[in-house]
Amino acid sequence: MRSGNIRAGFSKSAHLCRVTHAQLRQWFYAQLTEKYDQGELESMYHWCAEEIEGWSRAQLYLQHETQVKDEKQWSEVVDRLHTSEPIQYIFGKASFMGLELEVDSSVLIPRPETEELVTMVLELEKEKELSVVDIGTGSGCIPLALKSARNKWMVMGCDISVDALSVAEKNALTLALNVEFNQVDVTQDWPYEGIDIIVSNPPYIPEELSDTLDKNVLEHEPHIALFSPKNDPIYFFRHITEVAVRAGVKRVYFETHATDMGDLVSQLAKIWNGNIQVRQDMGAKDRFLILS
Ligand SMILES: C[S@@+](CC[C@H](N)C(=O)[O-])C[C@H]1O[C@@H](n2cnc3c(N)ncnc32)[C@H](O)[C@@H]1O
Repeated sequence: MRSGNIRAGFSKSAHLCRVTHAQLRQWFYAQLTEKYDQGELESMYHWCAEEIEGWSRAQLYLQHETQVKDEKQWSEVVDRLHTSEPIQYIFGKASFMGLELEVDSSVLIPRPETEELVTMVLELEKEKELSVVDIGTGSGCIPLALKSARNKWMVMGCDISVDALSVAEKNALTLALNVEFNQVDVTQDWPYEGIDIIVSNPPYIPEELSDTLDKNVLEHEPHIALFSPKNDPIYFFRHITEVAVRAGVKRVYFETHATDMGDLVSQLAKIWNGNIQVRQDMGAKDRFLILS
């Protein structure tokens, strides 16, 4: 039975003193066990203990009898986890390529596949000086990670969402990384000149597939970051490739939906007069496109 009150689940004696950490752990798992699998619970519990109690994973196991500092905060967090809100939004942060980024519900939570995209760009682009634009930058994860690894590159990020841009700008400031962010609707304008590389993880999910998404994604992450307009999964890939051709960009790196790559490649081949390479992600799914 779920109860937002930590003490409601314990014996009378527990009501007389503060709740211990061992009791808290038992309560946390009992509250959320129907919703999350064991691995997820474990990792969420560690995250909460670090944020709320200030305990590292190693410290946690020495604290069984220690009293919990802030029961109210634990209750509030469990209530939010119960609504499937991603833990990154609850604590307002996410980690990406070793950087700690601020996130809120106006930006997509950066994914491990996007770390693979950045790693691929860093491996393949050897020039010391390059100008790079990330289209649909969200939290700014891609350009900030590129800039932190290649200080000499000129790196920019753009997005249609003013709220996302304000998160990206805050992240650049906090990390002291010189990345410029601009508001751009890539289907309408392109304010840049002399760009070598475009990187993009654009919205690519057709709205008709919305019921295949997990509740935590569908109900909490921004739909403008998820769904491609007009139920057309190729919409942004086509627009961005057209921009790249018009602007004389040398190479484009895309993260994609990992389905129907054949159709996507043949559509883009009508626009891009060069090589189009498909690369797989760590799960052996066709995921990335390199236009060169
Ligand atoms: C899938 S998210 C990617 C966010 C971030 N790059 C990442 O990988 O975590 C796509 C982003 O594209 C932005 N976007 C949507 N429509 C756009 C448009 N017409 N022009 C520019 N950006 C757009 C959304 O606001 C969102 O931030």
